[in-house]
Amino acid sequence: GKVAVLMGGASAEREVSLMSGTGVLKALQSRGVDAHAFDPAQRELGELKRDGYARCFIALHGRFGEDGTVQGALELLGIPYTGSGVLASSVAMDKVMTKRIWLAEGLPTPRWKNVTSVDETRAALAELGAPMIVKPAREGSTIGLTKVNDATQCAQAYQLAAQHDPLVLCEQFIAGDEVTVPVIGSGADARALPAIRIVAPGGNYDYEHKYFSDGTQYIIPSGLPEGEEARIQDLVLRSFHALGCRGWARADVMIDAKTRTPYLLEINTSPGMTGHSLVPMSAKAAGISYEDLCLRLLATATL
Ligand code: DAL
Ligand code: MG
Repeated sequence: GKVAVLMGGASAEREVSLMSGTGVLKALQSRGVDAHAFDPAQRELGELKRDGYARCFIALHGRFGEDGTVQGALELLGIPYTGSGVLASSVAMDKVMTKRIWLAEGLPTPRWKNVTSVDETRAALAELGAPMIVKPAREGSTIGLTKVNDATQCAQAYQLAAQHDPLVLCEQFIAGDEVTVPVIGSGADARALPAIRIVAPGGNYDYEHKYFSDGTQYIIPSGLPEGEEARIQDLVLRSFHALGCRGWARADVMIDAKTRTPYLLEINTSPGMTGHSLVPMSAKAAGISYEDLCLRLLATATL
């Protein structure tokens, strides 16, 4: 039956989603899938049913797409979709809720404070120490994120994050290696793919570097010390199951340079599929082409 590739949407990551969705759409079509683009910002989701779509590939990022809302609508419509269900999607969208669950499961994540004002942001800096990351709790692609080095930067950092989300979190910055690890599959079949180590110029892997600059180095094989990558892949699989994720995801991890402790930052339940994105890069290193990856993900579509 017909497949709708959901792309665009109303979040701050709309542009990224259009890039992801266009890639997925072309890949599926190249393999003979009767796939069409569908932008929930421009059409009612109910039209999916009227137009006879049998399945959805969710290539939406951020709120109203990655956060359980669209998943809930598709549940009501009875149309199977790729990726995590309602609960895991909405928990993973919220970095604070995610941390609470990981901590309850004994999984390491950097210390943090929720803040609702500039004063609280300064207090968080005093408690967590510099540098500190200030970011919206429910946003993606590093939008609204600032690395704060001293108290003079707190006001601007808080205000920027609060523009995107009333829930702002301050997080201890872990100095060390930045890696990302995709997971594909569900339940007992879920597997971690090779880790990618990210080395951004000046250490800032921001929106520009994620999608538009060629200056970032993506190191794969990761070159991490013997045994460390396997331990991190195991940690990421546990982080995936702790939230009840399904189908696929990509967890971002910082490894403390001194202690080599890996800390989970977040898990993305609808990761980027753009030409610069990391799940396709890791899959390729594992011998899975972009087209095959899209077909495999589509095959996991369920209700
Ligand atoms: N939030 C972006 C799309 C990612 O995690 O890849
Ligand atoms: Mg993210």
